[in-house]
Amino acid sequence: MTDSNVQVSRRRFLKTAAGGAAVAAGALHAPFIIAQPAKLKIGLMLPYTGTFAALGTAITNAFKLYVAEKGGKLGGRELEYVVLDDESDPAKAVDNAGRLVNRDKVDVLVGTVHSGVQMGMVKVSRESGVLSIIPNAGAGAATGQLCAPNIFRSSFTNWQTIHALGKVMMEKGHKTAAWISWKYAAGQEMFEGFKEGYEKLGGKIVKELWLPFPNVEFQALLTEVAAARPSATACFFAGGGAVKFVKDYDAAGLKKNIPLYGNGFLTDGTLQAQGASAQGIYTTLHYADSLEIAKDKDFRLNYAKAYKLQPDVYAVQGYDAAQILDLGLRAVKGDVKSQKGIIAAIEKATVDSPRGKWRMSKAHNPIQDSYLRQVVGEQNKFVSVAWKALADPARGCKMG
Ligand code: PHB
Repeated sequence: MTDSNVQVSRRRFLKTAAGGAAVAAGALHAPFIIAQPAKLKIGLMLPYTGTFAALGTAITNAFKLYVAEKGGKLGGRELEYVVLDDESDPAKAVDNAGRLVNRDKVDVLVGTVHSGVQMGMVKVSRESGVLSIIPNAGAGAATGQLCAPNIFRSSFTNWQTIHALGKVMMEKGHKTAAWISWKYAAGQEMFEGFKEGYEKLGGKIVKELWLPFPNVEFQALLTEVAAARPSATACFFAGGGAVKFVKDYDAAGLKKNIPLYGNGFLTDGTLQAQGASAQGIYTTLHYADSLEIAKDKDFRLNYAKAYKLQPDVYAVQGYDAAQILDLGLRAVKGDVKSQKGIIAAIEKATVDSPRGKWRMSKAHNPIQDSYLRQVVGEQNKFVSVAWKALADPARGCKMG
């Protein structure tokens, strides 16, 4: 050993000894500096621009509201967010989700709204094994053919949101219908779900009309609705696109003679902007604005206080995403690496949601009531339970 080495070793020793003394003194006088576990990294991959921007914001707001109610922690762990605007662009989805998982090393992936983007995220979730929660997108495959132990939904499948609508429309005497939607994964799956339920009861779809996502040039298609003379129209639109569609449908003079129906995305989070055009519209969804549920009353009050906005179905789904993550993490004392324990806890939980209590299906999708609602003023008023404890068929899921 050379002199300089001795020198270095000694300096190092002194430094270490001093450091040890400082820690010891700190431990006596300020116990809070004792090692904290690292913050839990949450990747929020959602749309913050484009036609679904308000949906991504509502999910984020309510996720953070739940965290705030738990003193800023989930499962005892402080959080750090990595936020990414997915722009509802499926072409960028794999790269975006891959960046969150591989570069930013998020512990949990939360997202998204758009079914096409979700398919890219599911690929990354399956390949990496990262714990993933879907707070909206209804793509059937995510909890069907591509279901996986590490993937959970706090929202719905596309099928689930519209299955009861055919029954509702037949009960109101509409034996023929036109269908109109954006032509992408969610629109197509919702069409299939509607068709299945409606035709089984003797309903006939006399016209199918489609436009590319996220286009809002509805005029030519509305002329076709009028020409087809159906008894009613069923549709799927959401966010900014739904605002314009409902207004254009009314302005074209169709609303009175060919009433408009849809799953509840048509009128959720949109009523202020739709105004009189939306009055009276019936929809089906797993949430309504006037549920007699104590949990919902608290949630609505707290959300309105925090954000000066009324919550909607997207907010509920964001809140429940945080809620299931919390109960999973609590079961393993915040150790996100204990994935088996987290999964088991979420699988057996009853989630106390503003929408009403629900449980996960074997495929990791909520089993939940579908409500019939009607627009009255600025509310989607609860009318009745259209389908009790509706479970997605989870076709092709080989899990559980
Ligand atoms: C979807 O793409 O799955 C989707 C988007 C917006 C909604 C509902 C479903 O409101």
